[in-house]
Amino acid sequence: MSEWKPIRVPPFRIKMVEPIRRLPAADRWARMAEAHWNVFYLRSRDVFIDLLTDSGTGAMSDAQWAALVMGDEAYAGSQSFEALRAVVEDLTGMPYVLPVHQGRGAEHVFFKALLRPGQVVPSNTHFDTTRANIRAVGATPVDLPVPEAADPDLEAPFKGDIDVDRLARLLREAAPGQVPIVMLTVTNNALGGQPVSMENIRQTAELAHRYGARLVMDIARFAENCYFIRQREPAFRSVPLRDIARQMFSYADACLMSAKKDGLVPIGGFIATRHADVYEAVAPFLILHEGFLTYGGLAGHELAAMAVGLQEVLDEAYLAHRVGQVATMVDELHRRGIPVVRPAGGHAVYVVADRLMDHVPVEAFPGQALTVALYCAGGVRACEVGSLLMGDDERPPYELVRLAIPRRVYTDEHLAYVVRVLAAIAERPRVWPGFRVVRAPAVLRHFTAHLAPTGPLPSPTDWELPLAEGD
Ligand code: F0G
Repeated sequence: MSEWKPIRVPPFRIKMVEPIRRLPAADRWARMAEAHWNVFYLRSRDVFIDLLTDSGTGAMSDAQWAALVMGDEAYAGSQSFEALRAVVEDLTGMPYVLPVHQGRGAEHVFFKALLRPGQVVPSNTHFDTTRANIRAVGATPVDLPVPEAADPDLEAPFKGDIDVDRLARLLREAAPGQVPIVMLTVTNNALGGQPVSMENIRQTAELAHRYGARLVMDIARFAENCYFIRQREPAFRSVPLRDIARQMFSYADACLMSAKKDGLVPIGGFIATRHADVYEAVAPFLILHEGFLTYGGLAGHELAAMAVGLQEVLDEAYLAHRVGQVATMVDELHRRGIPVVRPAGGHAVYVVADRLMDHVPVEAFPGQALTVALYCAGGVRACEVGSLLMGDDERPPYELVRLAIPRRVYTDEHLAYVVRVLAAIAERPRVWPGFRVVRAPAVLRHFTAHLAPTGPLPSPTDWELPLAEGD
């Protein structure tokens, strides 16, 4: 027995299935052109393996589906809200909970209530909707990642950390009241899904509080961050995940949650805080923009499913399987010489597109070139996280393509297929052209931009990668 390689077995069995199919290559080419070369315009039924996002795309458990039926749809005083509030307080230690329809809903009402024009909000790295919502109230988001984050090959354990020295300088030099909030995004989605260490969270809280600022955590992927703290921070090697989560939240004054990630639901989120004054300030904006305090833009049954998901997500076996899937993909790609951000993050594989597509200049969006190649070559939908997403004024340190893994949805075979597609692209990357923007809005342009290729595409007939038809 002992010489056998361990097999990863999913800690769930499949009770309901959703058929998927791969379109013939010529059809994929046609669909991509119809979509203005922007994968956000593709219809999901034309996608074979959808790794556009891990947000709202997970599979709910039988317990969550059962909870839906028990949802209390009362406008005020819903029992489903009370169940959610109790779960969030138990998890975070924060008694004040405001439900929202999703993460950006939390950002919108929270910043509207608590920020003024001219103020500055530093973070390890803001997510794009967070950045846009801070800007929308006239304040300035500032990213202060650690220098290690700029090197995709550096195997450092906590590349999601905030640079505390730069944060200290920013706080010291700011005018009184200019920095009311310091943020930490766990895990750091924009820079490779990399975790933030407990020590970094502790130091950030201490600094923020010394200068009269509050620490607000974006906890969309808190469970994955807790898992990495246990794996990579020696002091926590044998600490239960729930205790790690409690300690992590103990440093924060408030949390913004997109439950579409580690809440294991298709839609939902919340704001939690330990301070009555924060709650009082945000509550009127919640009622104005999201909904009454006990539903926040969600149905009672959605609150109920979220309460169950938040408890399931810290399950040891679930997290080991999930983080293991991402780690295996990163290892397999690295072994084949395909440039990926290392070490593996929690929710996604990030390919360094400006290296793989080094024939495409940054101005022609190497990440978009790879995103189009992935769909055309294999029916795989991924997401550019580079110059197209960030916009001209904020060049990212490198051009990435994110392959986000939905929770409890794809098996190792699906992911092995994706590795195969990437390997095929990497054999002859130069056949894929770059892109230019034809039409785009000023804010969050990547979602709706129309693009056009800067050169001819390869012929679809070369890209019918074989699928095994069984023995
Ligand atoms: N914060 C982080 C770290 C996120 O990754 C997201 C969404 C949000 C906030 C906003 O939450 O979508 O519920 O409004 N990220 C998704 C993604 C869209 O694909 O990474 P939302």
